[in-house]
Amino acid sequence: MEGAVNGIAFEDSGPRGGGAPVVFIHGFPFDRTMWEPQLREVSKDRRVIAYDVRGHGRSQAGDGQYSIELFVDDLVMLLDHSKVERAVLCGLSMGGYIALRAAERQPERLSGLVLCDTKSGPDTDEARIKRAATIAAVKKYGVPKFANEFIKAVLTEETLRTKPAITGALLNSILANSPLGISGTLLALAARTDTTAALAKISVPTLILVGEQDKITPPAASEAMLKALPEAALHVIPDAAHMSNLENPAVFNERLLAFLIREKAAGAF
Ligand code: MLT
Repeated sequence: MEGAVNGIAFEDSGPRGGGAPVVFIHGFPFDRTMWEPQLREVSKDRRVIAYDVRGHGRSQAGDGQYSIELFVDDLVMLLDHSKVERAVLCGLSMGGYIALRAAERQPERLSGLVLCDTKSGPDTDEARIKRAATIAAVKKYGVPKFANEFIKAVLTEETLRTKPAITGALLNSILANSPLGISGTLLALAARTDTTAALAKISVPTLILVGEQDKITPPAASEAMLKALPEAALHVIPDAAHMSNLENPAVFNERLLAFLIREKAAGAF
């Protein structure tokens, strides 16, 4: 089923009663379609919800004044609307920032956490200055130039050379976003808080996945989260950079499905 609530577009599928629903939160500046290989597999025996973060995909861009706090408000609103008391949150990069802040603000809404190609630390000053330059460049040169440069930073050279379907789909999802949505999200990312101190309090089972060639949120950032989390496992995904779920869906899904079986068994007692 597809729907929209308060400007947030979502899809909801899979059987009820197969464990806590899994809510997929995509990375910047993509949309929920990036989860297609996971939605197909996980929805075979679990309820799955995937949505477009405000300013992305089919969700509304609104006034472009975003924060991670607003994105968490949207997530909680969607959980309430979908009558989901507790969910497994699965977020990639920006989706991970949102999931981590949701875990800090509303731990009682989580039954598990999957952190993909993400980190708990905030932007450095250097990264904030770079985001400001990107906003200026999007205004001056438009979204297509930004999309072509961004895509090169998130995929391995091998993916770029040999998997045009992945590159094309990601490019199309960036191109469908408005300059307002992209710039507003860059400001939200730059202003996000540091969730590192909250990691020690996350008591639900947590899975960390990261592409071995991820340069944006490198494996070292995942290892740092692993050390701070009470109940976590980390797997490095081979032949993948920042979009590990798309670049190596076979290994990514194997790890994700095994984790969900364990999370369901833990939740049953
Ligand atoms: C993402 O993939 O969500 C972004 O690259 C995250 C970021 O720029 O920090």
